[in-house]
Amino acid sequence: MADDAGRPTGGLIGQPHVRIDGRLKVTGQARYPADEPLANPAYAYLVISAISRGRVAGMDLAATKATPGVIDVLTHENVGQEVKPPMGPDGKPTTTTLESDQIWHDGQIIAVVLAETYEAAREGAYKVVVRYAAEAPSATFDSPGVEVEPLKANETRHDPAKGDAAAAFAAAPVKIDARYDTPIQHHNPLELFSTTCVWEGPKLTIHEGTQNLYWLKGSVAGQLGLDLADVRTISRFVGGGFGSKGAPTSRTAWIAVAARRLKRPVKLVTTRDQGFTIATHRAETRHHLQLGATPDGRLTALVHEGWEVSSRPSSYNVSGTATTARMYACPNIATKVTVVHADRNTPGFMRAPPDTPYMFALECGMDELAYALGKDPIELRRINDTQTDPVSGKPYSSRSLMKCFDAAAGKFGWAKRDPKPGSMRDGDWLVGYGCATACYPCNIGPAAARLSLTPKGKATIQLAGHELGTGAYTLLAIVVADRLGLQVDDVQVMMGDSDLPPVPGAGGSNNAASTSNVAAKACEAIRQRLAMAAVRTNAGIFAGVDPATLTLVNRALVGPDGRSEPLETAASRVSPGAIEAHVENVPQGLPPDAAAALYHGRASLLRGQSREDVTAFAFGAQFVEIRVHRRTCEIRAPRAVAAFASGTIVNPLAAHSQYQGGAIWGIGSALHEQTEIDLRTARYVNHNIADYLVPVNADIGEVDVIFVPEEDHEVNPLGVKGIGEIGIVGMNAAIANAVFHATGRRIRKLPIRIEDLL
Ligand code: MOS
Repeated sequence: MADDAGRPTGGLIGQPHVRIDGRLKVTGQARYPADEPLANPAYAYLVISAISRGRVAGMDLAATKATPGVIDVLTHENVGQEVKPPMGPDGKPTTTTLESDQIWHDGQIIAVVLAETYEAAREGAYKVVVRYAAEAPSATFDSPGVEVEPLKANETRHDPAKGDAAAAFAAAPVKIDARYDTPIQHHNPLELFSTTCVWEGPKLTIHEGTQNLYWLKGSVAGQLGLDLADVRTISRFVGGGFGSKGAPTSRTAWIAVAARRLKRPVKLVTTRDQGFTIATHRAETRHHLQLGATPDGRLTALVHEGWEVSSRPSSYNVSGTATTARMYACPNIATKVTVVHADRNTPGFMRAPPDTPYMFALECGMDELAYALGKDPIELRRINDTQTDPVSGKPYSSRSLMKCFDAAAGKFGWAKRDPKPGSMRDGDWLVGYGCATACYPCNIGPAAARLSLTPKGKATIQLAGHELGTGAYTLLAIVVADRLGLQVDDVQVMMGDSDLPPVPGAGGSNNAASTSNVAAKACEAIRQRLAMAAVRTNAGIFAGVDPATLTLVNRALVGPDGRSEPLETAASRVSPGAIEAHVENVPQGLPPDAAAALYHGRASLLRGQSREDVTAFAFGAQFVEIRVHRRTCEIRAPRAVAAFASGTIVNPLAAHSQYQGGAIWGIGSALHEQTEIDLRTARYVNHNIADYLVPVNADIGEVDVIFVPEEDHEVNPLGVKGIGEIGIVGMNAAIANAVFHATGRRIRKLPIRIEDLL
């Protein structure tokens, strides 16, 4: 293996490695935020609103205060303006909670009961009597009283357009004109949402499972008017996030206030059902898609209009037309996104936030177009494949879409497919094959890291990264070992603490790219110091050698002619103790102050679809077999094959799990998951994981993952594209397409259930 300057490296990047934190996790020694041992804690329990719109007219707290063990109750009356609202997922103030008597949504926090024990806090919370001044709420699309807000056109995020799509569509010889719907979904990470706050004088420490330590720190400092330096956030392990722990939410500052008043630590662990309304979710979306094509299959028009639900105060939206507009070569494109405000909690990031719903529409539409043209759906994508972003005209940094289709189609046995709907059967089962494109933009942010290397060859890398179950600790150990010529076991990784150098939040699939590139840069700083010291020592074997040619391999500094000096000797030339490097990495294309902003919790990502030089996306292809029972219409997904090309894969073992998990979640997303809402009350009704359906083992058969090799020298120095979210994208369209192939029934809304096919 060689790095981008052609120097050999340890060859560990790309080799499968078990998780270095695996033993801690399986033996229960990994400390999640709510596990933090505390001296004399008080416990908090949330009281949440039972209505979706109106005001708190009054609260009777007598029975609560009389409950043995209850210490105090925070409400808008006794806290009020002490706390400013947090920034929402779009960076603007989100639904507020205890600042006033106003109720914005179902399940809004309206009081915090504090007690000596969890049980007493819960009992006290149950005894709070709330009088509401309720108003009729608006639940979702088409509900009376919703406000419709068309978003303003913006090339990079919203409404990409070119040519005259309306005229081209009108003139197209072959057309598809269809509407699609996707549901409300909730992340339901295994680790419940929790917050623990501890004050020492003016200093506040927050233990909270978060995907963004510095954003949380900056948000709470701003909300409470604290010095940034006085707030520390700790989250060494996160028990699943999927986006739900990305943006700050209102509870954190309230627990900080509670701990300050009680002058003792306060711990909050919320319940599963509260998690449906005190955090974010994937909003329901609607799509109107128009595709025009020539008889030989070339796209001439693409019109994609989307609608998304948000809360009253927030215009958060995902605007996935930024993705769908640049998937295929097409000269005429028009897109538009509209936000519909209802009496709901603010939605937020959920795995591939824009792409999961918007690519459902596009990839079902492409399948419909293939049938309208009498072409194979893979061939239709090949005809419209492009190495140039059709919106901006910039080249793709790399795009291996058709290689993914070919690899997956071969393994899946696509050639055995009879394209006629309803034509393939196995006994009482109708068999359908479906496929779709997967994609995700390659994002990277500024990042900082501290790295030390001892003369004995032990390295420690420190940065405020996040381990959500993705293998983030292991990824860094591999990169550092590779670059310093060590073994993975020689590297200690410290993350999950805002006292460490800042990195962006683990979201938007930027983590691997941002942290591995800054780690590699820190290793390079250390290598340079060793090399400089070696060539400057007259007695040394490297006297006069160009320091740029010296590498670190197998615990030695190695020259271009193969001569080597043990790492111990090389390091001792620099320092008798550990050598340290503290580096910042600001990817080209980001403003120079991007690193400084990072310390305040404002990470600006360089996004794959809005770079100056190239458009950078990872691509993949999802294939699935669906079986529908001829009589009962029971739907089964016995096997799936997914192929991805995502640049450098640092740890194929972890990547395999990530991709496989994405495909499995895609099956759940297409066939199981939906948060049901009561249209009259605007309240979620299946707010628990007994009634919120997710796949169980019996729902999943074989899920094959194929790695399509890809080298990308444009995307970032290590060529890492990121894999966190792409695994789910396209799967729900592949399934809907397979259902059509099995049954001849085109279902354009998710999830697809028995009743849709009866
Ligand atoms: Mo991801 S939805 O950005 O955690």
